[in-house]
Amino acid sequence: MLIKRAERFTSNDVTDPALYLSRRELMAGAAAWALLPGASAAALPAPAPLQATRNVGRSLNEPPTKYEHATTYNNFYEFGVDKDDPARLAGSLRPRPWSVRVDGLVQKPKTFDIDELLRLFPLEERVYALRCVEAWSMIIPWIGFPLAALLGRVEPAGSARFVEFTTLLDPEQFPGQRPGFFGSSLDWPYVEGLRLDEALHPLTLVTVGMYGRVLPNQNGAPLRLVVPWKYGFKGIKSIVKIRFTEKQPVSSWQLDYPQAYGFYANVNPAVDHPSWSQAVEARLPSLFKSTRTQLFNGYRDQVASLYAGMDLKRNY
Ligand code: MTE
Repeated sequence: MLIKRAERFTSNDVTDPALYLSRRELMAGAAAWALLPGASAAALPAPAPLQATRNVGRSLNEPPTKYEHATTYNNFYEFGVDKDDPARLAGSLRPRPWSVRVDGLVQKPKTFDIDELLRLFPLEERVYALRCVEAWSMIIPWIGFPLAALLGRVEPAGSARFVEFTTLLDPEQFPGQRPGFFGSSLDWPYVEGLRLDEALHPLTLVTVGMYGRVLPNQNGAPLRLVVPWKYGFKGIKSIVKIRFTEKQPVSSWQLDYPQAYGFYANVNPAVDHPSWSQAVEARLPSLFKSTRTQLFNGYRDQVASLYAGMDLKRNY
């Protein structure tokens, strides 16, 4: 299946480094998401190289966002709420040893060691668009394997309808999980969920690397979820638990602000956030929202059938 070149990538997006060099003055008083820390973040050393075969048919034909932007402008509230906090503080995360428990409504519950997962599934590189609910976007060459391959190993029961994902809970490694940590508002651990058919969709990826390297801590080491037609917050990082359920899971952001963040969180230019439009986005490092947002982030042909007959305004 060929992913069509998305319209938005040919728009008149403007990238002018001079603009973000003076960003602090420019954006004074603006929301934190608009600040691009760039060189100011004391980035961690780049992780080891990781081999993978490019899956051309599932990759956008677009130049990726620069590595230094994708690894210094992050959302990972376990390290703080500022975009440069994860790059500064994620050295406390220990991605080895690491295991992932897969259980719930399955025939064969199992705990997988991260290195076992790396041996079990051939690694693919896929260039996907990442659209954050905060109206910025990046193009990222992920390395990983289809979530469906992992889920198949535990043989889901017929009664399973949803899949719930949980991030590690460890305030020692994640300062943002400590009681009273400044700016931290979420109920820990971070939880996300997908409908079973979304979880089994061939575009849904478990990622263990990016840009030809092992996944950096600030991007969710040692493994995270990537669901390219949904807002970035569905891409839960540093996963330790995957559970099959009958009931729809409640995600962390849904719990925090249900009027703004729904369970589905499909990218949709026609459904605005209560505080801003979702019709346009800024493709980093540009801060101009000059790129038109596309329904399902440009993956309409691949995923629209999952939502046939559903009211996407009600099921946001
Ligand atoms: N996962 C956890 N555990 N904690 C988080 O704060 N932030 C989410 C998502 N996964 C988040 C998370 C949000 S809001 C986004 S946009 C993406 O991660 C950002 O991924 P990136 O930092 O790799 O760009």
